[in-house]
Amino acid sequence: MSVDWDAQAEVFDDEPDHGLRDPQVRAAWARRLESWLPHRAGDVLDLGCGTGSLSLLAAERGHRVTGVDRSLPMLERARAKLAGRDAVFLPGDAAAPPVGEQRFDTVLVRHVLWALPDPARALRHWRDLLRPHGRLVLVEGVWGTLSPVGIPAARLTALLAPLARDIRVEDLTDDPLLWGKTVDDERYAVVATV
Ligand SMILES: C[S@@+](CC[C@H](N)C(=O)[O-])C[C@H]1O[C@@H](n2cnc3c(N)ncnc32)[C@H](O)[C@@H]1O
Repeated sequence: MSVDWDAQAEVFDDEPDHGLRDPQVRAAWARRLESWLPHRAGDVLDLGCGTGSLSLLAAERGHRVTGVDRSLPMLERARAKLAGRDAVFLPGDAAAPPVGEQRFDTVLVRHVLWALPDPARALRHWRDLLRPHGRLVLVEGVWGTLSPVGIPAARLTALLAPLARDIRVEDLTDDPLLWGKTVDDERYAVVATV
């Protein structure tokens, strides 16, 4: 399935979990992100950053953010959302981000990995962009029940097993505050420390 993300940019933030406009939804993501990101402020690479909603939460916790997305309209919104923050946004492919020799404490990816052509290869590349003891924070799921799309947690953890020394999976299905509604498909986050 291919989505026209340029066309989606204008309405993307209308979804509660995208725009985080509802204070309760925003607070729910802020709490989760606080527990997933390192406590000490560091460098976060947000891949497929979209309109920058999670980038902003990370920046609010003092992290320096580099966001990468291949949709320019998405990046435009992310830049506006984080104006005045310690953040840069770069056009590019999430699977091969244009960050040169820079290394990061955290690679953060929400709802992007499942749609990449070669998730295993992307994960290996992301692992190589981390500093020692860095972490991958991956928020993914399997959406819909009739014709589901996404990546199940079991598959993602199997791909991560050779790359990480510690892998923690957190179920997100049971927390309606994250989604602004009750959901019954598979939603989860993985924090993988290398
Ligand atoms: C579902 S949105 C998620 C946005 C953001 N991560 C969030 O959670 O709010 C997917 C985003 O990934 C971007 N994207 C999809 N494939 C990409 C790729 N190969 N390289 C860079 N960005 C990509 C899209 O442009 C879109 O902004």
